[in-house]
Amino acid sequence: MNIFESIHLLQDFLNNADNQKKTIGFVPTMGALHQGHISLIECSKRSTELTVASIFVNSTQFNNPSDLQNYPRTLDSDLQKLDQAGCDCVFVPTDMEMYPNAASRENIFDFGRLATVMEGAFRPGHFDGVGIIVSKLLEIVKPNKAFFGQKDFQQLTIIRYMTEKYLTHLPSEIIGCDIIRENDGLAMSSRNVRLSSEHRKNAPLIYQILSEIAQRKNNYSVKEIKQWVSDEINKNPYLEVEYFDIVENKSLNSIKQWNEENIKVACIAVFAGDVRLIDNFQL
Ligand code: PAF
Repeated sequence: MNIFESIHLLQDFLNNADNQKKTIGFVPTMGALHQGHISLIECSKRSTELTVASIFVNSTQFNNPSDLQNYPRTLDSDLQKLDQAGCDCVFVPTDMEMYPNAASRENIFDFGRLATVMEGAFRPGHFDGVGIIVSKLLEIVKPNKAFFGQKDFQQLTIIRYMTEKYLTHLPSEIIGCDIIRENDGLAMSSRNVRLSSEHRKNAPLIYQILSEIAQRKNNYSVKEIKQWVSDEINKNPYLEVEYFDIVENKSLNSIKQWNEENIKVACIAVFAGDVRLIDNFQL
């Protein structure tokens, strides 16, 4: 597996005569890799000829400095996992490489209310930072396909919007891949390692409640279900709902009635102690 820290060396590798002919799949990550990330590498390997991953803990998307500081950094084991999964090439840039000056940290996109609801309401500026780094990475790698997990559903919606509106010069198709769950249903996340054993034991309730909505929705209104989900989770002393909403998948507008003709996604953020977990479920 080839490892590059510099944009130039990565691009030289991607532009060499052999690799130029291959379709490129790209999996951007912030490291602390788990089976969810590896499943993205597997998706990429199935549908493209050369898989590139990146590992970069992106400071511009953290609105909370202690969250950035506590973000798990496990580079050696990440590289091992990527190598084992058959990833061809990893880009591991330094902060200086991605953000050489103040101007390079500035946001140039407007995501409108897509970036101010749900995650955006509680993490102001988060999606600006995601947009800045993902656009830079896509410009560098120019993949044919880029793979993102559906667990970060709002992020995926915004990245799709960004590529369709602002990055039409790139060949890149954005692919959303299934959420990978632990056996008890908890969505895999790099943050799960920070859960205490009691919080870890109780966290699967989030998915359990989300997956019950589909059966209950015939008997209850949207408003009643929203209340029920928050109440059920908040009854558990280890969990506290930050937000819960049921939204239309592209506009992220809140659903008012079950009979609206659109794809509905139930989205939630829950604190398990000081660890913030997000999950979602397509209804
Ligand atoms: O989902 C993530 O890990 C990050 O938000 C991403 C897409 C790698 C950008 O830093």
